[in-house]
Amino acid sequence: MSALPGSGPGTAVTGLDSSPVDARPETLAALPPLTEQARLEAREIIARYPQPRSALLPMLHLVQSYQGYVTPEGVALCAEELGLTKAEVGAVATFYTMYKRRPTGRHLVSVCTNTLCAVLGGQRIFDAVSADLGVHHDETTADGSITLEHAECLAACDYAPVVTVDYEFYDQQDVESARELVAALRRGEKPLPTRGAPLTDFRGVSRQLAGFSQHADEGAARAAVDAPGRLGPTLVGLRLAEQRGETAPPMPRPASSSSGAPAAEAAGFEQAQRDAPEPAGRDTGNGRAGTETPAGTEPGTSGQGPATREA
Ligand code: FES
Repeated sequence: MSALPGSGPGTAVTGLDSSPVDARPETLAALPPLTEQARLEAREIIARYPQPRSALLPMLHLVQSYQGYVTPEGVALCAEELGLTKAEVGAVATFYTMYKRRPTGRHLVSVCTNTLCAVLGGQRIFDAVSADLGVHHDETTADGSITLEHAECLAACDYAPVVTVDYEFYDQQDVESARELVAALRRGEKPLPTRGAPLTDFRGVSRQLAGFSQHADEGAARAAVDAPGRLGPTLVGLRLAEQRGETAPPMPRPASSSSGAPAAEAAGFEQAQRDAPEPAGRDTGNGRAGTETPAGTEPGTSGQGPATREA
């Protein structure tokens, strides 16, 4: 398997055999342990799903939130709790690029070099940032501040060229703005993303991806949502839902749930699901305010705001 563009010789590769999980003794010795709390949280994740193995993806994010990458200890924990083999867990963890096989820096900087971003300068941005940091694709700076990676399309082509930090968007970058962004991160600053929630760090956002708040309490979470951003339209849907009193429908749990929920409780979930109001859909023009065409399935309905940059 060949190295990705921008990779250093013999470093970042895409093949499983040549890119194993980092299990070097010095790496493992430096890791914080997976605590009993982590195991309890893993079980909490499992209880959310009708089939326990469906919990594997958020569990892997949980492991990363504790240890910074999918460690051998994390693989073992997932396998034990889900009744899977380590090979099965590893097969999943090595399939998706969001699961890291080596320790990740405080921030993960992803530069989109896919078609549209590349045409508009994404590769030049990657090359400049790579030179500044002295690292190639999937490598981490010696001070542990930044892991740099190429990214495939980040689903924000209308804001190309796009850089994300810990999956938060920094739209319409150029070489100089991206270099400034990365320099600020190395100084310990957290520049405000172009839209969405404020930047935290890789482990914090991994916790969020596992389905737990990365904020200390409700107030802090609220403050993160309300933080000023340069493109407020991203949160318009959330605001409208709050104004209308809309919430996501409850998740049903069958009697066979691994949470051990008794049948009566499971039946309650099912009833709540049936009683939940239909989500307000868009007027489809045929007299039904239905949801036949979910947002995101038509051009221009990705849920992103208009490309109007506020001053
Ligand atoms: S090509 Fe870069 S976000 Fe789509």
